Amino acid sequence: MMEMAMKKLEGKVAIITGGASGIGEETARLFADHGARAVVIADIQDERGQHVVESIGPKCTYVHCDVRYEDQVKDMVESTVQIHGQLDIMFSNAGIISPSEQTVIDLDLSEFDRLFAVNVRGMAACVKHAARVMVERRVRGSIVCTASVAGSRGQKKRTDYCMSKHAVVGLVRSASRQLGEHGIKVNSVSPGGVGTPLTCKIYQKEVEEVEKIYEPHSSLKGITLKVKHVAEAVLFLASNDSAFISGHDLIVDGVQVGG
Ligand SMILES: NC(=O)c1ccc[n+]([C@@H]2O[C@H](COP(=O)([O-])OP(=O)(O)OC[C@H]3O[C@@H](n4cnc5c(N)ncnc54)[C@H](O)[C@@H]3O)[C@@H](O)[C@H]2O)c1
Repeated sequence: MMEMAMKKLEGKVAIITGGASGIGEETARLFADHGARAVVIADIQDERGQHVVESIGPKCTYVHCDVRYEDQVKDMVESTVQIHGQLDIMFSNAGIISPSEQTVIDLDLSEFDRLFAVNVRGMAACVKHAARVMVERRVRGSIVCTASVAGSRGQKKRTDYCMSKHAVVGLVRSASRQLGEHGIKVNSVSPGGVGTPLTCKIYQKEVEEVEKIYEPHSSLKGITLKVKHVAEAVLFLASNDSAFISGHDLIVDGVQVGG
């Protein structure tokens, strides 16, 4: 058991979108370990979400919430406040990748719209409704969004994904300026390639094999990027350890080779 003094989220109430899997799931576990009073997982994978909740314990709950729909996001945020009395942390993390590689000349605008509905529209809805309740209740909260290394540089493929993550960074930069007067910090975490169900599906490979694919992209040798490393960066941004950091995009990629 972690010593009380080492716990960074004692008594806090957190929402994690996309918490049923990958980076979100790992972060839910870490938040619970760090003393969060309530961790609400908001996702569309109900069975998987319930399973994660059971494995974490009673402080963790699952809510079905499709971030593409603003009314579902609003209800999920408001029900969290009703049940737990406050909202301190929003980790807006749900995201998808298009099935095709989408270079600019073969951009499929229907797939593009589907991706933007989650990665951009959904992200904006989560920031909006979290900020609203934090402002209303005068909570000096922390909002963290998952962007990507694809959010700050061009990519050879996956144009739609790259554009969507640039939009997330823009949202964070704007929201951090607007919400600063309320004492709310807004940051993003930008992982490099990491083995999760999302990337395993792209490559049709297991986590360890996906990690091997990404390894040469990092300048930092002797260590493999894992979801744990990303969750630790999110914990830093969510906690008081980053008390004076807002509008920052925290890149977790061991410095991309040629970056
Ligand atoms: N894995 C990587 O290499 C990597 C790198 C950079 C950024 N990211 C970003 O990290 C975030 C998490 O991805 P991951 O790799 O853990 O993938 P993942 O697929 O394991 O997790 C994403 C979760 O989001 C949920 N989700 C998808 N659409 C949703 C919706 N409409 N409403 C609510 N929940 C929804 C999924 O059900 C899933 O549980 C994403 O935003 C992704 O773009 C991932």
